[in-house]
Amino acid sequence: MPLDLILMGPPGAGKGTQAKILSRRLGIPHVASGDLFRDHLHRQTPLGQLARQYMDRGELVPDDVTIGMIRERLEQPDCRDGVILDGFPRTPAQARALDEMLSEMGRSLVAALYIRVREELLLRRLAGRWTCRTCGAVYHIEFNPPRIPGQCDLDGGALYQREDDTEEVQRRRIQVYQEQTAPLVSFYRDRGLLVEIDGEQPIPEVTAALLQAIEIRRTTDP
Ligand code: AP5
Ligand code: MG
Ligand code: ZN
Repeated sequence: MPLDLILMGPPGAGKGTQAKILSRRLGIPHVASGDLFRDHLHRQTPLGQLARQYMDRGELVPDDVTIGMIRERLEQPDCRDGVILDGFPRTPAQARALDEMLSEMGRSLVAALYIRVREELLLRRLAGRWTCRTCGAVYHIEFNPPRIPGQCDLDGGALYQREDDTEEVQRRRIQVYQEQTAPLVSFYRDRGLLVEIDGEQPIPEVTAALLQAIEIRRTTDP
């Protein structure tokens, strides 16, 4: 059975950080809606131009556009054995669409991994974040610095700060998360898929907790 996982949690919880590590450890792709939008933006596609209007303000890109983009990605052959979804689903409509997409493929979610971090810690994490232009690896000036300043440890790629990482937009993203995405926690809890992970531990401890939870879900999966 394919290992289909979602990583949930507020902006700055560490979804991208952990997804990158899990993807290498588990050998399944990391599918991040935010990264896909940023890639479109970089290539200046019509989808990128549309998404920018929302991303710049910290608002959600409309569901139909987002769902269509994820559907296309999940149909790629590399997603055959499972995916780690990061930042999708973010609304009840997206969660229902994901259920449908997976069931059309004869698949179903193995776990919804919710990385819990208190709101007062999020801004500090986001303010110090630097991302690799080449591979998307995530660093933090204080909590996870690269070996050479400004350079990715994995491929030497240049590190940059995201355009939506101004304090104003960060605050709005956190607010939008509380309003529109936080309700999904109970959506997945009701389905028996939710696993809560303490995201305030150091990065390697969070990874270990996630791997352990995945292993348990995997072996108890019917
Ligand atoms: P997206 O790219 O998904 O951004 P986000 O949800 O705001 O989340 P972040 O990427 O900011 O946080 P993260 O949890 O990945 O944290 P990270 O690992 O980087 O979305 C951007 C925009 O795209 C949205 O606003 C929206 O417009 C649009 N969009 C995307 N998906 C959409 C959807 N489904 N529907 C509609 N619109 C959508 O870590 C943060 C920092 O903390 C890093 O510096 C890291 O090094 C550090 N850190 C990580 N873990 C730890 C730890 N354990 N201890 C200390 N520091 C840590
Ligand atoms: Mg991210
Ligand atoms: Zn890199």
